[in-house]
Amino acid sequence: MLKFSRRNILKATAGAGVLLGGGYAALKVLTRPPALDVANSRPLPIPELLTGTDIDGRKVYDLTMQRGSTVFVSGTTAATFGYNGNILGPSLLMHKGDDVIINVTNQLGEPTTTHWHGVHLPANMDGGPYQVIENGATWKAQFTILNEAATYFYHPHLLHKTAEQFYHGLAGLFIVKDRLNEPGLPDHYGVDDIPLVIQDKSFNADGSLAYNDSSVGFKGDYILVNGAATPTFLAPAQFVRFRVVNASNARIYNFGFSDNRKFHQIATDGGLLEKPVPLTRLLLAPAERAEILVDFSGQENEQVRLVSFSDEIRDLNVFWARDALDKKTFDVLTINVKTATADATTSMPGSLAIINRLKESEVSKTRKLSLEVSLFGSMTINGQSIDMNRIDQTIKLNDIEIWEISNPSPMVHPFHIHDIQFQILSRSGQPPPDNERGWKDTVLVEQDETVRVIAQFSDFADPDIPYMYHCHILEHEDDGMMGQFVVV
Ligand code: C2O
Ligand code: CU
Ligand code: CU
Repeated sequence: MLKFSRRNILKATAGAGVLLGGGYAALKVLTRPPALDVANSRPLPIPELLTGTDIDGRKVYDLTMQRGSTVFVSGTTAATFGYNGNILGPSLLMHKGDDVIINVTNQLGEPTTTHWHGVHLPANMDGGPYQVIENGATWKAQFTILNEAATYFYHPHLLHKTAEQFYHGLAGLFIVKDRLNEPGLPDHYGVDDIPLVIQDKSFNADGSLAYNDSSVGFKGDYILVNGAATPTFLAPAQFVRFRVVNASNARIYNFGFSDNRKFHQIATDGGLLEKPVPLTRLLLAPAERAEILVDFSGQENEQVRLVSFSDEIRDLNVFWARDALDKKTFDVLTINVKTATADATTSMPGSLAIINRLKESEVSKTRKLSLEVSLFGSMTINGQSIDMNRIDQTIKLNDIEIWEISNPSPMVHPFHIHDIQFQILSRSGQPPPDNERGWKDTVLVEQDETVRVIAQFSDFADPDIPYMYHCHILEHEDDGMMGQFVVV
């Protein structure tokens, strides 16, 4: 079912205008976002850090999903959703090996769920479409942290409703640390260990959030970091770790710095890399996370901007799925460097972690998944839309499998698998770049590309409750580009 909204018809027409070379300027005027007084350059908000309350040997956390309001456009308020607040949610600090309980109370006035993205846990604790929390109810999620130290996140996952609830503000970080492997990285939360939850939003003239669920994927006109439009961060003049999270519904970013400085990626979605990987650009698709180290030593009083060089990735998407920001380099965060802290991290560790490579020789099964957009615009996997009554894959507990994900569609798709972390074996026959040679739960699959990933499905079997796999462009997921597997 093609769900072209008026907005996207305009976009598509504008694209056609480029091709035809005529009428484009007039259409562009029509599609230009309204000139709004969006309050930017405010100090970067840092989400509260919840360390949990010790109760009978467990760490207990409480989250309430609620309605609130947020000021984006000066003099107006927008209705938003948040966990324990008006928008987004606290960062939950967990340690590997901890037994945790998270009580999630739903006060949204509508059903929802809360999914622990990237976390390896029993299917009935996953928080996907099967663990619905009715309005007024509390869901008690209880599990042991088995994941590697990295940055995970949580968000709603109700069937066909994920995109809208997420867009209105429901997302928070889930930070795992490992007491047995702390390789000397900056770890003072909010000081030199900084979460950057990056999203794009649009606003109506009255300052409210603008949204439409067109299956192309919603992209906003303004960039928010931790809920504030293009804010400013005061960085100490030393090594700073940024936990960069693409929490946008559909936008892909090509991050870098305004002075083209080198930085180092130290972690992927599900763990530290073996050693820091030098980069000047970081491509990050929805739901992907990357921890990076940036050296501000000796740069007191200097300013640098975190930007997205989106115009450098021209061919990533078909023209009608690209918007104005995709054709530009645009600002994300302004960084003003101030005095270093007393206990600054002044060097970068040479090695970070040991990653045990899963062996192709031990693979029990290879599955093929094709991410497709049908002639009529439906988002499918192997030609089928999600059906909760159909189990798409049955996997034997402890098996190592290869999933071959191909993309014959005219758009790019960030593909995500619940329960496990995988390793990328190849992209269309080529080895992955160094910064993808770590644990991943989401991988961007470009047009005409085939990505092979390998994973082991260990620890948790449940013949009755499936886990999901899907495209993390949330409108694609909601439109049906999702399947389910059980581990038995
Ligand atoms: Cu971010 Cu199915 O999840
Ligand atoms: Cu997930
Ligand atoms: Cu997709």
